[in-house]
Amino acid sequence: MNSTSILITGGAGFIGSHFIERLLAEGREKIVCLDNFNRFYDPAVKRANIASFARDPRITLVEADFCEAAATRQLFDDYDVSHVVHLGAYAGVRPSVAEPLVYQQTNVGGTLALLEAARQHAVERFVLISSSTVYGQSAAAPFVEDAPLGVPLSPYGASKRAAEVFGWTYHGLHGVPVVCVRPFSVYGPRLRPDLALSIWTDAIESGRKLPLFGDGTVRRDFTYISDFCTGLLAALERPAAIGQTINLGHAEPIELRQVIATLETALGKKAEIDRQPEKPGEMPITYADLTKARRLLDYQPQVSFEEGVREFVAWFRGRR
Ligand SMILES: NC(=O)c1ccc[n+]([C@@H]2O[C@H](COP(=O)([O-])OP(=O)(O)OC[C@H]3O[C@@H](n4cnc5c(N)ncnc54)[C@H](O)[C@@H]3O)[C@@H](O)[C@H]2O)c1
Repeated sequence: MNSTSILITGGAGFIGSHFIERLLAEGREKIVCLDNFNRFYDPAVKRANIASFARDPRITLVEADFCEAAATRQLFDDYDVSHVVHLGAYAGVRPSVAEPLVYQQTNVGGTLALLEAARQHAVERFVLISSSTVYGQSAAAPFVEDAPLGVPLSPYGASKRAAEVFGWTYHGLHGVPVVCVRPFSVYGPRLRPDLALSIWTDAIESGRKLPLFGDGTVRRDFTYISDFCTGLLAALERPAAIGQTINLGHAEPIELRQVIATLETALGKKAEIDRQPEKPGEMPITYADLTKARRLLDYQPQVSFEEGVREFVAWFRGRR
């Protein structure tokens, strides 16, 4: 991995910026951070995400859209890309219900443009970041990667599932060394501002009402960013990961009303809850089976939800 480059798509996003910091801490050189700084949330937040490494000589920042197939193909030659971690996407369940076409174009079309470039440039590893939202209502919890998935509940989940299928076709047809990773509710400093944990923290801190859709019994398998990055690094490096789909979660789903209570403790303030009807597209539970991640990646999440929320809240207050 020395003279060739590692390409991180969506490198200015929440997970991408943390993963680049992890690669630098591991002593990696020649990292290409590709991001188009789209307006899904404030691009200024993404500029701040990359502030710690934007001027590092080991980083090349490329501001471009990976859906542009010819330019993406050229980028693989220009930087001699050998490893890809494809994090760039439109994420988020609810906006995908309102704007499904954008999700299809970026998450499916964009992934295909990258797979084409990866095939032509003969990369050594293509880590495709999917999502826990690919599991449908009929999937049995805890979710096992290779058990029947059912039908995704949202266009976002469908777009991620379609991207996975293209990945496996490129693996089978062209031998692209694909690893598919399914993250479960990753959180921590620099969390996306559109996610409930961010919105709720802001509401409790500012004394505003906190919107809660449904009765708060929905459960999410929250995964701390440092644990996720450790698993992702193993997915990038371990030979046994190639050809596999691997969950990266915490295997401890938490009810949303418990999430609010944990935030109240960390912030030292009471939440005022504004109950609203359930939103379509939301999964009642996400719960990762980690048997495969443990076996193939030696993955073992370390950070408890209470500890992770304390870190998140400290960052949130520091930023203000
Ligand atoms: N955060 C989570 O809990 C979570 C859970 C499951 C899956 N994921 C997946 O992990 C990945 C990263 O998520 P995140 O939370 O960091 O999201 P994010 O929105 O913070 O990061 C995505 C980045 O991709 C960039 N991007 C989008 N379209 C692009 C394009 N066409 N060309 C170049 N750059 C583009 C965006 O500008 C953004 O900076 C996504 O694929 C997401 O679907 C995240």
